[in-house]
Amino acid sequence: MEDTELIVQEATEEAERAEDSRALYEVKMKFLGRAGKVTALLKSMREIAAEARPAFGKKVNALREALEEKFAALEEKLRKEELERKLAGEEVDVTMPGRRHREGALHPVTRVKNRLIDLFSGMGFEVFEGPEIESEYYNFTALNTPADHPARDMQDTFYLTDRILLRTQTSAGQIRVMEKKKPPIKILSPGRVFRSDDDATHSPMFHQMEGLVVDRGITLCDLQGMLDEFARTMFSASSKTRLRPSYFPFTEPSVEVDVSCAACGGKGCPLCKGTGWIEVLGAGMVNRRVLENCGVDPDEYSGFAFGMGIERIAMLKYGINNIKLLTENDVRFLEQFKD
Ligand code: DAH
Repeated sequence: MEDTELIVQEATEEAERAEDSRALYEVKMKFLGRAGKVTALLKSMREIAAEARPAFGKKVNALREALEEKFAALEEKLRKEELERKLAGEEVDVTMPGRRHREGALHPVTRVKNRLIDLFSGMGFEVFEGPEIESEYYNFTALNTPADHPARDMQDTFYLTDRILLRTQTSAGQIRVMEKKKPPIKILSPGRVFRSDDDATHSPMFHQMEGLVVDRGITLCDLQGMLDEFARTMFSASSKTRLRPSYFPFTEPSVEVDVSCAACGGKGCPLCKGTGWIEVLGAGMVNRRVLENCGVDPDEYSGFAFGMGIERIAMLKYGINNIKLLTENDVRFLEQFKD
């Protein structure tokens, strides 16, 4: 019986020393848990003489209740303190100066690409994106460049297997579109292309934008009219274009398209190497053989196609002199391209 007084005293002292609710829980278990001291007392009832048992039981139960109350009260107090401490630690000082975040901007290549898509979709072009891993057939053969054709040497190709390669030109998309869709066709095909080429103006991965128009009665004049519009939008309101004869296996005739130099207005300067003109893209009338390869009747339909390097356009437009700047991701360079 005397034990109970001692136990209350001991439990109270220990409980009051507990610094947090966790420590308090340990103390609680020590007394009221399954292996606790009070529980042991209850279990010891059996050893007590029968007549003394009711009184003993009452006392131990009272002890247990008293302790439970005590623990509950202490626990509430500790939890409240803990919450207050936590909230104090999380206080936000709204008067602190903010951290500066550098504002992002669209990459110049993305900018030019979006601008081109805007321009051409305004003329009714739809966007088609072909795969970057292509078969030799779509990248070359169907484009009138069969195996052993010397024009395959115009593009240093990354072959994955004998027949599968990383596309060297978005022109591969022309075939994929014409195979599926009957004229009239008006598509724009932007995407990454790959060539084993690496210097200040060439990168092994770069972006191209391909255009293809096939319908009845399409002529080179349609191409040039559209290119003039392109030059005025991308470079300057007074830009003009000039077509020079060239060669691509998939077009006949083929042309190289120059835009009047926006830096000097065509008078001649270091940028245009004194010529007043800058070469911007390749184009031409779709070769009959290419139309035939896709099941389009060349006697009924004709078309023009063009392909341009997006990096090249971005470099000309923004006066960037090294293509590597476009892949280094240096924020000091990139943040200069904001409207
Ligand atoms: N695919 C050519 C190249 O990568 C560019 C090109 C030239 C695309 C003439 C065309 C075209 O569609 O008609 O050099």
